Amino acid sequence: MGYVAGVDVGSTQTKAAILDDDGKVVARGLVDTGANVVQAAEKAFQAAITEGDIDPRQVEYVIGTGYGRYRVTFGNTQVTEISCHGRGAAYLFPGTRTVVDMGGQDTKAIRVSDTGEIEDFCMNDKCAAGTGRFLGAASSALNIPLNELGTTALRSERPVKISTTCTVFAESEVLAWLGKGKKIEDILWGVHKSIASRSAALLRRVGINDQVTFTGGVAKNQAMVAALEQRLGTTLNISPESHYMGAIGAALFALDHVRASRAPVTAPAEARA
Ligand SMILES: Nc1ncnc2c1ncn2[C@@H]1O[C@H](COP(=O)(O)OP(=O)(O)OP(=O)(O)O)[C@@H](O)[C@H]1O
Ligand SMILES: [Mg+2]
Repeated sequence: MGYVAGVDVGSTQTKAAILDDDGKVVARGLVDTGANVVQAAEKAFQAAITEGDIDPRQVEYVIGTGYGRYRVTFGNTQVTEISCHGRGAAYLFPGTRTVVDMGGQDTKAIRVSDTGEIEDFCMNDKCAAGTGRFLGAASSALNIPLNELGTTALRSERPVKISTTCTVFAESEVLAWLGKGKKIEDILWGVHKSIASRSAALLRRVGINDQVTFTGGVAKNQAMVAALEQRLGTTLNISPESHYMGAIGAALFALDHVRASRAPVTAPAEARA
């Protein structure tokens, strides 16, 4: 039995996924990227190896993706995260036509064809207002851990309207609302709604076609899922694998490579006789 792996070195977190010969996800690893990107890639891969109790020598091909893909020093090659998120999403949800990937820094909108090819994509590389970075600013202003933002926001009854469009000012606006006596949950739901609205605008630029699959770590945030679903008026495909979608896509490209190299070479006619 052989394995393949994908390592998605994101700006915030590094994810690894190991797949078996049949394309089944058998192990995952997740670590914070931090300052030492090379080490983060190694640690995430090692975490997956340990989780799956896999002999690393059986991992036949490794593909790096994400912003730090060239720092996967043990990898065989690299593929962009747009391709990997598209591939992973179309694999787990074959009806996928639109992918929204929300990570720690950027949001990416990807349009996928009915055969899983990337048709178009768009990312808010210039402005972070519709992104996970905006959530990070709110999290530090309110002193609430990122993984509790969603559950807190969902308690909101009277959301405030966040008017700033800039992450740089998000923290001061959040603090200003606190100063006016607004409840934390109402401020947070306002923050989620604001991000959802900006992400929807990004998605409209590539075209929003059902089914829409939500990938990246922010897909774990239930309030973000709810806010986006409300804004788009559709149910999103979410999976426990959403955070690993880029790594899974990279591993699927690795599997393509292994399968192609194993494909039997057609024997000459005389040998077949
Ligand atoms: N358990 C959780 N609950 C809620 N949010 C979470 C959770 N885990 C991660 N996140 C969110 O996901 C973000 C990281 O997502 P991801 O790993 O997809 O980002 P990345 O790939 O490093 O970033 P980018 O793609 O922008 O370079 C965190 O910053 C946080 O906002
Ligand atoms: Mg990412």
